[in-house]
Amino acid sequence: MISGKARLAGVMGWPVSHSQSPRLHGFWLDRYGIDGAYVPLPVRPEDFEAGLRALPKLGFAGVNVTVPHKEAALQLVDEVDPIARQIGAVNTIVVKKDGSLAGFNTDAFGFMENMLQISSTPPNPDRPAVILGAGGAARAVLASLIDFGLSEIRIANRTIERAEALAQSFAGPLHVQDWNNLDRAMEGAGLLVNTTSLGMTGKPPLELSLDRLPSEAIVYDIVYSPLRTSLLETAAARGNPTIDGLGMLLHQARSGFEKWFGTLPDVTDELRQHVLKGLNG
Ligand code: ATR
Repeated sequence: MISGKARLAGVMGWPVSHSQSPRLHGFWLDRYGIDGAYVPLPVRPEDFEAGLRALPKLGFAGVNVTVPHKEAALQLVDEVDPIARQIGAVNTIVVKKDGSLAGFNTDAFGFMENMLQISSTPPNPDRPAVILGAGGAARAVLASLIDFGLSEIRIANRTIERAEALAQSFAGPLHVQDWNNLDRAMEGAGLLVNTTSLGMTGKPPLELSLDRLPSEAIVYDIVYSPLRTSLLETAAARGNPTIDGLGMLLHQARSGFEKWFGTLPDVTDELRQHVLKGLNG
């Protein structure tokens, strides 16, 4: 039940009907007994700026921003958190007391928090990490791993120029690897992360040999549909610890929830099951 004083948040996207965020935040609002609401906000690209500017006037505490608005949001907000600037996209907006908009990106936080919650041992900072992909998701993962202090990060992408551009735009121990010779990149690695769309339902599979990957390396696929990708199945079969992408989605949302509703919520198995039911329609 919400009162006339309920705090308001939501998710702006186009389309937005596939978003699990209302289900996710709704679960937490209920769980923590918070007087608030989180609603889907279908906003066309041409209306996005007007939609954002309306938030303070409508009394919103803030919003999440999803496809296709994340890069536009970075340009439109009044202030940008340094991590969002580094990633090049804003996915969380807070309406400040003076009505100005502050933009954040919570994906780097979600990526690391999920790994720390699931792994019995955190990644070894002295072991290289291998990142597959060079899109927006790769930028968030990189920001997170550089912040964690990894000694070496190897990036491989089908289009090598994108990997090179990524390596140049981040200050850190980054090395670009050949996408067609990934075997060598796996040697000695402590963490392998897939940030490409390969393996996602409806996309081609990620065909990758893990033969040279140490068996204690964590294999993290940020794909969450399907939950158990063939990469994770192959990794688990040879004894590697594995992490699926659903946890990152859930953990990244915690940060926005805290900013709007004042409580840092937990990711529990019950929440995972609740969101999975939504994903499976
Ligand atoms: P996001 O912002 O979600 O990361 P993106 O910017 O579209 O999405 O990036 C998708 C990633 O998947 C890219 O690294 C892309 O490689 P390219 O930069 O070469 O396009 C990768 N990807 C998509 N389809 C691929 C395929 N068939 N083979 C290899 N990599 C692929």
